Parts: sequence; C-alpha cells; structure tokens
Amino acid sequence: MSILSYRSRYAMNPLHEGDDLASELEGAGKRLIKVNIGDPARYFKTPRYVIDAYVKALKDGHTNYSSPYGIPELREAVAERYRRMYNVDANSDDVIVTQGVSEALVFLNASLIDWEDKAVIFRPYYTQYAPDLMLFGGRPIMERYREEIEWGIMTDDLERHVKADISESRKKPKYLIITNPNNPTGTVLPARILREIVDIANNYGMLLVSDEIYDEIVYNGARFTSVSQIADGVPHLILNGASKDFDATGFRLGLALLPGEDKASVELKEQFRRFATIRLSCNTPAEYALAEGLSRHAEHERAVGRMVREIADRANFAAKLINESEYMHAVAPKGAFYIFPKLHMNRLKLRDDRDFAMRLLDEEGVQLTRGSGFGEPGHIRLVVLPEKKVLELAIEKINRFCKRHSK
Ligand SMILES: Cc1ncc(COP(=O)(O)O)c(C=O)c1O
Repeated sequence: MSILSYRSRYAMNPLHEGDDLASELEGAGKRLIKVNIGDPARYFKTPRYVIDAYVKALKDGHTNYSSPYGIPELREAVAERYRRMYNVDANSDDVIVTQGVSEALVFLNASLIDWEDKAVIFRPYYTQYAPDLMLFGGRPIMERYREEIEWGIMTDDLERHVKADISESRKKPKYLIITNPNNPTGTVLPARILREIVDIANNYGMLLVSDEIYDEIVYNGARFTSVSQIADGVPHLILNGASKDFDATGFRLGLALLPGEDKASVELKEQFRRFATIRLSCNTPAEYALAEGLSRHAEHERAVGRMVREIADRANFAAKLINESEYMHAVAPKGAFYIFPKLHMNRLKLRDDRDFAMRLLDEEGVQLTRGSGFGEPGHIRLVVLPEKKVLELAIEKINRFCKRHSK
C-alpha cells in the first residue's frame, strides 16, 4: 500500500466522526448531548491560579517563541514533580515539552519506526496509537486488555506473542505502549503487572512507553504506580501533560520524560530534541502557567482532589445506570473519566457499533464514540464528565434507542 493511501486511511480520528452530522443537527435547532470528547475544561474550571499565571505571562510579554525543548522553569518543575511524587532520579534535561501528548506520540513514531517495523499496542487503544504507528509505516502487534479480568493484562500471553513474533520476523518490536490509567476502559494497572511488563520490555529489548496522562485521576480505592518508579535501568518513556491533571486541554502542552542514561534512551532524547526544533516552540504563556501549576502543590492538590471526587461520583452513577440496562454492561472505571460498555449486539437490529453511534446521534441527539474506533468493536465509549442529570438523560436516550431497535 502506498504511503498516500495509508495517510487517507488513518487520518480521521473516530472521536470526530459524527461532527458533520452534529453540526447539521445543531444548525436545525436540535440540542445534543456530547459525550464523545474527554475534555475536562468544558466541565470543570481550570484552576484560578493557573489562569492567573497565564495572564501574567502575557502581561510580562512572554509572547515570543520559547526554547523548542520547553522553558527551563517548566522542565525543572516537571523533573521536580517526578522526584517528589515518584522518587525518580530525573533532571530537567530528561524532559522535553511537546504540543500535547499527541505530538509526543508523533515524535515517538517518527523517531523509531521504519517501514514495517512493529510495536506492541493493546486494544482497546487510545485512538491515536494505531493510526500514528501505521502512518509512519509501522505495524501493530495487537495485544488485548481483557474485559473478563476488568480490562487487565495477561502478561503470559503478552510474552508468548512477542516471543513468537520475534522468532517469525527475526526483528524485535521497537516499543510497547500502555495507557495507565486507561482511556477508554478506566483501568488502573496494579504494580505487580507493571513489574512483569517492565521485565518483558527489558528481556525483549523494547522501549517501554507509559502514557500516564491521567496519573492523578484515580478513584474507587485504586492505587496508581508510575512506570518511572519501577523501570530504573530499563529504557522507558513517560508521557504526561497539562490536559487532564491540570484541566487545561487547550494549553496544548505535553511532557515527555526520558530519565534513562542507557544508549536507547539517550538517542531517543536526542531525536525528540531534533524534532522539537522543527516546529520551533510550544505555547509560551501556557508553559509559564503550567510551571506555576506544578510548583503550587497545595493549591493543585485541592483543585485536582475536588475534580477527582466529582468525577468518581459521576463515573459510579453512570456505571450503575448502564449496568441496569438490558442492552449493555460495563466495568466500573477506577481512573480517567470514561466508561466503555459492551453492547448486547445480539439483541439489537443494528449492523455494528458504528451504525449504533451514527444512528443514536441522528435519532436521539447523543454523540458518543464507537468502540471500533479504539480497536474494540461491539462497544461504545461515553465520557463521564457531564453532570449526573446529563448522564442520566444520555443513558435514558440510549436505552430508548436500543428498545426501538431491539429484535
Ligand atoms: C491516553 C491519552 N493519551 C493522550 C491524549 C492526548 O493528550 P494531549 O491533550 O496532551 O494531546 C489523550 C486525550 O484524551 C489520552 O486520553
């Protein structure tokens, strides 16, 4: 397949698939419930002191390009966060600031993937992982989060598949990526499983990438462990950013942490730095605001604590209603802010989850994301950020829709 047809095949993010229809419906005066995009800043105000720091940066004249790698204040604040929270031996040179984790993922694939190289991805995956890998000509070794064990990972299977792939292709996968806490499933992986994954990455020479953008959004008794706490000596890349913990998606700031001193980590860091120079700089005032956000610990903890309590309440409420439905069931999330119900497709006269999502939008005005967009057909993803009365109405409409299309 040519690179051009690859591009058109993987260019569209399924999160935005219903947008044209949604605009049309809104244009005709219909009110929609949108539970398709995980954008906390639409539901919770970005903390005041972060906004004030942004405004101050503008007033102080920080409207110039900044260092392509990120302003030193921000890179030091990030390194300090990892030293303080996760006991990582990190310094500011280990941090590269990107335009969202989204850009860090592009840097990752641009750095490591040559035509037909492989990487291990788990499905359901965050919508960008597989398309990005394939855009660069790579191919996924598709592992699974297992719904039957609350979307956990079977590390025996993982090791067996990696081993088989290496012995067949005589090439090792370039990286293995996990999302913890997980979008779309809400799983928080236990330390024991993470240790086993670190060992597998180490034994088979794969870079371990851990997307930890929801690391402070954990609830229902779950305990989060960062890969950075346990992967010392094993090449790893940690991804984080302003979007979720700091409730500032529009800042477009991502944080790539490469704390290793091994050859692979040093080379990757150098490659990331080269790519960073191509696009000159990130959003400078936002960098100042995030540096401030990272250094005001007490205020941050209060703000994120309030948000997480509210998210937990909304997530549990949605899980309860969904599990009362005849047409779907879901594992209750413990982190992030999504729920990923399995549809009882055999009871429905609908082709598949895409058909479900588009018709639901058209008929009931609820916009959500089809599971196949995350590589997991037969499911749907709802964002649980809206207030409970909105979630209740959305689920009521989904049930009504299912009833109308039931066999
Ligand atoms: C797991 C995961 N990684 C990355 C991103 C994108 O993050 P950013 O806003 O930093 O580009 C998201 C956004 O929803 C996400 O859920």
